[in-house]
Amino acid sequence: MAASSGSKWLYLLLCTSLVLLLCIEFTECIVTYDKKSLIINGQRRILFSGSIHYPRSTPQMWEDLIQKAKDGGLDVIDTYVFWNGHEPSPGIYNFEGRYDLVKFVKLVQKVGMYMHLRIGPFVCAEWNFGGLPVWLKYVPGISFRTDNEPFKMAMQKFTTKIVEMMKNEKLFESQGGPIILSQIENEYGADTKAYGAAGHAYMTWAAKMAVGLNTGVPWVMCKQDDAPDPIINTCNGFYCDYFSPNNKETKPTMWTEAWTGWFSDFGGPLPHRPFQDLAFAVARFIQKGGSFTNYYMYHGGTNFGRTAGGPFITTSYDYDAPIDEYGLVRQPKYDHLKELHKAVKLSERAIVSADPTFISLGSYEQAHVFSSKAGGCAAFLANYHINSSTTVRFRNNRYDLPPWSITILPDCKTVAFNTAQVGSKTSAVNWLPTNVNKLVWQTFNEDVASVDSDSRMAVSGLLDQLSVTRDASDYLWYSTGVVINPSELHGVPSLTVESEGHALHVFVNGELAGSAFGNGENKKIKFTGNANLQAGMNKIQLLSVTVGLQNNGPRFELSKTGVLGPVVLHGVGRGSRDITHQKWSYQVGLKGESKNLASPTGVSSVDWIESSLLGLTNRPLTWYKAYFNAPEGVEPLAIDMKSMGKGQVWINGESIGRYWTVHAKGSCTDCNYAGTFRPAKCQSQCGRPTQRWYHVPRSWLKPTQNLIVVFEEIGGDASAISIMKRS
Ligand code: GAL
Repeated sequence: MAASSGSKWLYLLLCTSLVLLLCIEFTECIVTYDKKSLIINGQRRILFSGSIHYPRSTPQMWEDLIQKAKDGGLDVIDTYVFWNGHEPSPGIYNFEGRYDLVKFVKLVQKVGMYMHLRIGPFVCAEWNFGGLPVWLKYVPGISFRTDNEPFKMAMQKFTTKIVEMMKNEKLFESQGGPIILSQIENEYGADTKAYGAAGHAYMTWAAKMAVGLNTGVPWVMCKQDDAPDPIINTCNGFYCDYFSPNNKETKPTMWTEAWTGWFSDFGGPLPHRPFQDLAFAVARFIQKGGSFTNYYMYHGGTNFGRTAGGPFITTSYDYDAPIDEYGLVRQPKYDHLKELHKAVKLSERAIVSADPTFISLGSYEQAHVFSSKAGGCAAFLANYHINSSTTVRFRNNRYDLPPWSITILPDCKTVAFNTAQVGSKTSAVNWLPTNVNKLVWQTFNEDVASVDSDSRMAVSGLLDQLSVTRDASDYLWYSTGVVINPSELHGVPSLTVESEGHALHVFVNGELAGSAFGNGENKKIKFTGNANLQAGMNKIQLLSVTVGLQNNGPRFELSKTGVLGPVVLHGVGRGSRDITHQKWSYQVGLKGESKNLASPTGVSSVDWIESSLLGLTNRPLTWYKAYFNAPEGVEPLAIDMKSMGKGQVWINGESIGRYWTVHAKGSCTDCNYAGTFRPAKCQSQCGRPTQRWYHVPRSWLKPTQNLIVVFEEIGGDASAISIMKRS
């Protein structure tokens, strides 16, 4: 035994020195790993990482965000790669602006950090269609994320393109760049069952394909217990201390998503994760031998444009992260984690040099001790009780431990940090008025009467929305005519419309008969309302609206949207009349969209009306435009949409995203940090709009004459829209 462990050490020593020699010789290093950690430049490392998704902020914000991450004690920036942003149509690529991936990676390098590139290319991420392009769904014979040739071909092509792009710029650590790690697929393990043997074949193919790209850095697969060697399987979750990789002797224990908060749905409350519990979860992970922790999200940012998935994910992707949506540090979360990172770094040598020894100090009290000649001694003292503080004895000293907390002793003696004890900093968010005067609006009416008059597309029956729009717009008009004899009209007729989601506005003879909405729990809609039918020809027009496409689940690409019926008139003639299967005509998008009204170049293509002539409030399907000068100061800006209903906003042609002033339903009770966290435990905003403020990046503004365009679906009061600054 002794001889074999001795030779193992010798082997390790030789390997380590070899890597070091190589690094010194060629100034090029390879990243490897062993059971303890990733090994960079021959050094085992305890690494802290943070997710910042580049399209969820602007290039002008990137360096500051990355620098803040570094100042917060992080070593690595993690991002997904967003295929549908990079390849909006087959073979047409976009690596500009918010999608300038190379620039983002280079900034990470400039700031002096490492990068984890999670290529996916399926990413989930509350992103439209999970990051896969919608056109991919219409490639003949395709089936997503399974052993299917067209899918595998497309996935390999994109993954290779990204890897080659990084290689050409020398961005892998093996070439002297910052990328130390890459991910292929995303949480496929959870879905494998649904795909059966073909799923397993696909997963192994993906692993082999990735490894074959020879990046010189390791690949991970998250939530993939059977990830084949040399791929490291990693954990995602609120806690990962229970987790170990599928080969404990060769692979390190890594946490690719330590959820710092949670996302929000329009109509749901805002989840918050207490910073004490987050720090406790991370310390729990490290005390068990975890060596890589990535905060998902460290900066969540904004789902600009129509990038939010879900459906129903809000435009804000703030996530209650340590850096807020606007790029400001969130206290005390940010500083608390920074202190945690410091304490762990003080213990790093001890942690990477020894396996932890577990010592029970009571029913709820534990110690984990890393002790070796080479690394010295570090200890983690834990109290798992959710109500009571306790005092423990460890190596002849006494330590007070608050409930649900861990104390870190980098020298097995001195307290460097306790996960529940807070420094003094807190932050309160203030929204302050800017010097932008009241906006002077002009309006343009989306003319319902003219919808479908020049439509060339008419078919019998109801079509899936995506198959018609291919997601070129959130909006699809379904229109049909119904002839009613005078003798058939008695009482008040009504109409029911069933839709697969996500929102629906029903017009009868040009008048809004009502709207209905799905939500985060149930995307389906059943509309019932009175129908103002007349004798003769009646026009039924249904405006179906998507609110972000499905972003996860087995075979999510098959999920349906739009009005698939039945659509039934009641109280006409002797009973009801099912109009599902008659001829319907289709119009993709709004007139204002086809005229490009939101952009400075298209805005003048229609005649706008001075709003003073019309009155502003509660008109459905209305476009608004106004001009404003950039507010003075440097604070982040947002637009307050509280007075509006539902729609989209653009500034100088850039889409701020979808807005929806739907009030949050749910329970928002007092929240104690102690005890196992789940998003519903700590929420705010109940009874108020889920999202009221929408981020306006400063860099999108010019000094004067900024064009703001709003499209309102239901009706609102535009005179109350204002631009605010966050401090
Ligand atoms: C994970 C997924 C991420 C993100 C997260 C929730 O399961 O891998 O992409 O969706 O959930 O925010």
